[in-house]
Amino acid sequence: DLPNTITLANITHNTDSHTNIPSTLLPYLTRNLHLTPHHPISNTRQIIESLFPPSTFARYNTLPPVVTVAQNFDCLGFPSDHVGRSKSDTYYVNRYTVLRTHTSAHQAEKFRTLEGEGKSGYLISADVYRRDAIDRSHYPVFHQMEGARLFDREGKSGGELVDEVLRDLEGMEVPNVEVAESCALFEEEGNPVQVNKGHSVEEAEAVGRHLRRQLELVVSKVFSEAALAAGDTAAAKEKVKVRWVSAYFPFTSPSYELEVLWNGEWLEILGCGVIRQDLLDYAGRKGSIGWAFGLGIERIAMLMYGIPDIRLFWSQDERFKGQFREGVVKRFEAFSKYPLCFKDVAFWVGEGRGAAAAGGAGGEEFHENDFMELVRGVGGDLVEDVKLIDEFTHPKTGRKSLCYRINYRSLERTLTNEEVDGLQAKVRSQLEEKMDVQLR
Ligand code: PHE
Repeated sequence: DLPNTITLANITHNTDSHTNIPSTLLPYLTRNLHLTPHHPISNTRQIIESLFPPSTFARYNTLPPVVTVAQNFDCLGFPSDHVGRSKSDTYYVNRYTVLRTHTSAHQAEKFRTLEGEGKSGYLISADVYRRDAIDRSHYPVFHQMEGARLFDREGKSGGELVDEVLRDLEGMEVPNVEVAESCALFEEEGNPVQVNKGHSVEEAEAVGRHLRRQLELVVSKVFSEAALAAGDTAAAKEKVKVRWVSAYFPFTSPSYELEVLWNGEWLEILGCGVIRQDLLDYAGRKGSIGWAFGLGIERIAMLMYGIPDIRLFWSQDERFKGQFREGVVKRFEAFSKYPLCFKDVAFWVGEGRGAAAAGGAGGEEFHENDFMELVRGVGGDLVEDVKLIDEFTHPKTGRKSLCYRINYRSLERTLTNEEVDGLQAKVRSQLEEKMDVQLR
C-alpha cells in the first residue's frame, strides 16, 4: 500500500521497506522558521550568531534536510546498533537516506570545504527531524545550531598550538557566568582525550577551554536577553549559574553537556566536545584539531521569550506571529489558555493483527513512538501531550496492557466535545487498523 516514490521539498526519492515519513510531515520541510523574518527562531539564531565573528565562522543556513545514512550516522562513528539508527527514532526516506536527526550530519563535508572559503569555523542552522514523545517541549521537527572551530597544528609544537589557542581565548569577551560545578576537564574515565590519535592532554585542554569560553558567552548572552525581555535590568547583570557535565557523543572525545540553572532547575542547553581526530583525518583535516557543539534553538527561544509550548512556533495565528519583531526580544504574551480535554485509551499489546497473522502466538513489538505518530497524524497540533498512565501485565495470562492519556487542547480556540470525541474515535480505529494491539 506504499507509493513507490516520495517527494520531499521538490525532490523525488524511491521508497522501500524502511520508508516511514508520514505525509503530515511534508509541509514542515519547506517552512524554514530559522530564516523567517521576525520569527523568534530566526531572531534567536541571529542573537547566537552575533557572538561568533564572521571572519572566522562561515554561516550555512540553507542545507537541505535529506541526507544519507552515511552522513547522519556512519561518518560520525555511530555504532551499528546505536538506538538513534532505529526506525522508531529516525525518519527514513529509504534504506540509504534519512531526514537529518541533527546538524552534525554536515560536519564532514564542511570540514572538507571550510579552508577553501578562508574560514576556520562554521555555524550551521537547520531544521532536524526525530520521532519522539508528544509534550510541550517535543515536536517531530525542531531546529539546531551546530558550531565548530578548527585550529591549524601543522608544523607547530604542542606548546605553540597551546599558546595560539589560549591567545585567541584571551581576545574573547569574559562571560558573565558562575561555574557552579564542573566535571574534570580531562582524563575522566570513559571520556578520554584521544592520546592514541595524537592529541596531547595539554592540546586537548587548551581546545576544551576555548570551547567552554565560547559557549559560556552564548549562555550569558541568552540569559541577559531573557532578563531584559522580562524587564528585569538588575537580573540582566547577574551571573548565570552553569555547570559542565561529562557526556558521550560518538564524534567527540572528551564530550560535555552544558547545563544552566533556570527557575531552580538544571536545564541542559547543549552538547559539545573535542572533535575526534579520526573524523577530522577522514575529512581531509589531518593537520587540524578542534571543537564542535550543537544546541536546540527552540529550547533557547522558549526560555528567552517565555514561550510555554513548542507547538506555538508553528502557529500561523497573527496573535502569535504578530508579537515578534526582527532583532527584538520581548516576553511572549499568552493570548489565552483554552480548556483542556483529556481522553484515555487502553489496549493489550501484541494481540491485534500481528498476533492473528502469527496464529495467535505473539505479534509485532510495540514502539511507543509509532503510537505517538499515529496520535499526531490524527490530532496534529490539537494534541498537547500524551502520557502513559497505567501499565500492567496480567499475572495469569502474561498479557500486557497499556493505558495512555491524550490531552487535547488548541492553542487558538476552544475545542468542542464532538470534535474531541471524533478525534479519539479515529485514534481508536487507526490503532486497531495499523498497530498490533487489541483495544479494551
Ligand atoms: N549532534 C549532537 C546532538 O544532536 C550535539 C553535538 C554536536 C554534540 C556537536 C557534540 C558536538 O545531540
